[in-house]
Amino acid sequence: MTDTPMIDLSDVQKYYGDYHALRGITATIRPGEFFSLLGPSGCGKTTLLRTIAGFEEISSGMIRIDGRDMAGVPANRRPTNMVFQSYAIFPHLSVAENVGFGLRRLGLDAAEKTRRIGTALEMVGLAGYGARAAHALSGGQRQRVALARALILKPKVLLLDEPLSALDKKMREQMQVELIKLQRQVGITFILVTHDQEEALVMSDRIAVMFEGEIAQLADPETLYRRPTSRRVAEFIGVMNFLPATIVSEGSGRAALEVQGLGRCEVDAPPGGVASDGGTTVGMRPETLTILYDGQAPTDRSADGTVDEVVYYGDMTYYDVRLDGTDRPVRISMRNVFGRPVLNIKARVRVGWSPGALVLFR
Ligand SMILES: Nc1ncnc2c1ncn2[C@@H]1O[C@H](COP(=O)(O)OP(=O)(O)O)[C@@H](O)[C@H]1O
Ligand SMILES: [Mg+2]
Repeated sequence: MTDTPMIDLSDVQKYYGDYHALRGITATIRPGEFFSLLGPSGCGKTTLLRTIAGFEEISSGMIRIDGRDMAGVPANRRPTNMVFQSYAIFPHLSVAENVGFGLRRLGLDAAEKTRRIGTALEMVGLAGYGARAAHALSGGQRQRVALARALILKPKVLLLDEPLSALDKKMREQMQVELIKLQRQVGITFILVTHDQEEALVMSDRIAVMFEGEIAQLADPETLYRRPTSRRVAEFIGVMNFLPATIVSEGSGRAALEVQGLGRCEVDAPPGGVASDGGTTVGMRPETLTILYDGQAPTDRSADGTVDEVVYYGDMTYYDVRLDGTDRPVRISMRNVFGRPVLNIKARVRVGWSPGALVLFR
């Protein structure tokens, strides 16, 4: 790996008239990285992707690709290629003609073209499909054709704008796994746009979570999930319980807290410390809380509560448990174990928890 980032975004701003769509995006993307832009609809993901591709000019800031400033470089001169949400393939052409479309201007001989098309089709699991009519393909196959067509030009960066969102759940999950494999195989930098947090977690080396034209947090999936830096990021990525807390003391990166329902504990303080008025919120993921069954070894800490709601999923059960001394339940996810009965509403339970799993927000 070189030290030069593949993509270097420096204070990228984009206005559409008065509308401020990108509000100072700064980030670097490494060569060979699978990078995702994740955020709700309208937060600027597509806009950012299009500015990298050169379909959209930035209002200020700088975009470098592989060390080169892209100002004034048109889309067709950039080392990027884009795969769109809607399969932009030509239905009246064959699969091979679709895949080889971008090769027209390269002046390759017929044998070389055929070879390249064959390799690209193999990459996306469509070996032998070259002669088929594109309009006769399924949604998943069309998206593979679109991928092959983008990859055949050997871009340094492949930009994917919600490429799987039109597929049904099963096909989407299958394509996610295939895309990860494909990316490892070709070693090209992938930038994926998605509004689906699970998809981003499954696929990415790192994720930039965006809200309203800004990056709220940029981290690897585990850090994003376990250590979100804001309630907003925490809530966007999975489920998180929030409990009110009071800060008893703070210093050297640690904070002593009194957490409603859980009691006194010490946790890591967020960078920059906590707001000074003493009141705050802690978060905890449902799987970091455990219902302690009889005879089970005690966890670090425990608290008592009452089951408010039971949602059975087969392999998992979600319990909403109201801890004594609190007015709102916390959600606890438990993996079901053969021979252990599911609890009923109103059951009294002991809940195990660990201060290390609590997240304190600024
Ligand atoms: N060509 C355009 N002209 C004016 N506003 C635009 C244009 N393209 C996008 N926008 C606005 O910029 C914001 C971000 O859009 P977009 O990047 O498409 O969001 P996302 O891909 O995250 O859903 C939206 O509010 C959208 O309406
Ligand atoms: Mg979009």
